[in-house]
Amino acid sequence: MKAKSRTLSITLLILVRGLIGQVSTVQLPQDKGPDKINVAAYGETFQKTYGMFRQKCSKCHTIARPLNTTMTRSEWERYVKRMMHKPNSEINQAQGKEIFEFLLYDEAERKSKNPKAFFPALSDEEIERLQQQQGQ
Ligand code: HEC
Repeated sequence: MKAKSRTLSITLLILVRGLIGQVSTVQLPQDKGPDKINVAAYGETFQKTYGMFRQKCSKCHTIARPLNTTMTRSEWERYVKRMMHKPNSEINQAQGKEIFEFLLYDEAERKSKNPKAFFPALSDEEIERLQQQQGQ
C-alpha cells in the first residue's frame, strides 16, 4: 500500500512538472533588481512591445531578470530563441522578433549608459552552481 502511494506521488510529480513546463525557480542576482522601467520616451511601438514583453517573459521567472541583464546583440538573439524554445513558452516567431528589437533598443537607451548597474549573462555552469547552492 505504502509503495503504491509512493509510486502515485512520483507519477503525479512528473505529470505536474510536465504541465507547468520549465519554470525557473533558481534565484539569479539580476532577479533582485527593479521589475519596472520608465518607457515614456521609448515611442509608441516600443511602449506596446514593452507590455507584451512583460507578459510573455515573466511566465517562468520575474521580469526583473531580463530587465537587469545586459547582453550583446548576438547574445540576446540566441537567448530570445532559447526562451522561445522552452516548453510552454507561448512566444511565437513574430513576438520573439519584436521582443528582441525592444531588448536591443533598451540596451542602447538605458543599459549601455550605466552598464555597472546591470548583470552580464551567466553561463550555464554558473546557473547550475546557483541551483545547487539553493538546494535545487
Ligand atoms: C517557458 C519558461 C520561460 C519563459 C517563457 C522565458 N524564460 Fe527566461 N529563463 C527560463 C529559465 C528556465 C532560465 C534559466 C536558464 C535556462 O534554463 O535557460 C531563464 C533564464 C533567463 C535569463 C538569464 C540569463 C543569464 O544567463 O543570466 C534571461 C535574461 C531570460 N531568461 C530572459 C527571458 C526573456 C527575454 C524572455 C521572453 C522572451 C524569457 N526569458 C522567457 C525560462 C523561461
